[in-house]
Amino acid sequence: MSVSRRTVLRLAAGGCAASAMVSRASEGEGLARRAARRGLSFGCMVRPEHVERGSPLLPVILREAAMLVPENDLKWRALEPARGRPDYSRAEKIVGFAERNGLKMRGHTAFWYKGVPDWAKPEIASPAAMPLALRHVQEVVGHFRGRIAEWDVVNEALEAGDGLPGGLRKAPFGQAMDAGYIADCFHAAREADPNARLYYNDFAVEYDDTPHALRRKGVLDLLAELKRRNAPIDGLGIQSHLCYGWRFTPRLYRTFLADVAATGVDIRLTEMDVADFHAATDIAQRDQQVADHARRYLDTALDEQAVVGLMCWGLRDRDSWMQSERWTQRADGSPERPLPYDDQLQRKPLWDAIGSALDNAPQRVRRRSAGPLPKAAG
Ligand code: G3I
Repeated sequence: MSVSRRTVLRLAAGGCAASAMVSRASEGEGLARRAARRGLSFGCMVRPEHVERGSPLLPVILREAAMLVPENDLKWRALEPARGRPDYSRAEKIVGFAERNGLKMRGHTAFWYKGVPDWAKPEIASPAAMPLALRHVQEVVGHFRGRIAEWDVVNEALEAGDGLPGGLRKAPFGQAMDAGYIADCFHAAREADPNARLYYNDFAVEYDDTPHALRRKGVLDLLAELKRRNAPIDGLGIQSHLCYGWRFTPRLYRTFLADVAATGVDIRLTEMDVADFHAATDIAQRDQQVADHARRYLDTALDEQAVVGLMCWGLRDRDSWMQSERWTQRADGSPERPLPYDDQLQRKPLWDAIGSALDNAPQRVRRRSAGPLPKAAG
């Protein structure tokens, strides 16, 4: 078909006008809507004070997030600091806020060795304590039945360095436990809320080094073992605590994600942020390095259809757990800048990188194992 030069110019001019409209229309548009267009979801970690009336973060959260996860308020030690007297009030602030605003919730986390309250620690050090742990899983998931869409049922149960079969972590039991206890936690959670999507969540699988390779193997072995035991697992949470300067190899990571997807579970990137202690001193350069690093990671990860969404572990730099972690401190003493917004709530290059990676992600098609796709916004 031949097209006249005038037609080409007209079409090109129309295209320019259309793209100007698109870019005007997307000003002020949050990451949640950009993710939803691709059938993905974007969300973030929050604290109760972030969603209180008058919080400067509140409008940002409402614009950016379709899903929220409490940083600490659903952990066992936060919920039940004294035995038998659980206090759901802080978690309820967040869950109630999500409900009033039509946002989904992730539950983090029903069972985590670091989340065991001090009073339960002596008991947990014996296998006889499993009923206590399972009772907690059932209690917390059941309390929020129908209100929390997705749970990290078990968090960080692997540590190859501990030398146990299957790469299982010694803590919190202090002795050999097999994956049966993890399967039991999933059964307890399913019984407590049959409609919640149930995830195993872990970190340190992203990079091209030996500890990360061992953790990747541990995760794949655990997924196979849980399937073998008929544990009702729906998803793998990959925390995605990234670090500028560490070696990321797309080919390796693609293979890992495909291997996970082949087991039939969904994948969510659950706690993304980027440590910048190896990055430049100059702020503009540093922020760009962080953004480029995240972009490479996200382009690879979001290319996998099994990946259903992305959560950041906070939106604003000063809220990051990295500000008080010893190993993430910068030699020049300046605070970490690991999140998409700075402390004045200005968007950073990382925000743009996440937005572009979401825009470029392949449209999601419904997978056999996955739940319904979120309604596309806009
Ligand atoms: O609430 C107590 C307070 O009563 C006490 O006075 C104070 C003194 O240390 O501690 C307070 O608890 C702290 C808690 O955060 C709430 O601020 C704990 O010490 C501190 O260890 C805890 O850190 C959290 C950490 O998980 C351990 O639970 C971080 O905020 C949180 O960002 C971090 O999140 C984890 C995810 O759950 C799992 N993946 C890794 C991620 C980052 O470490």
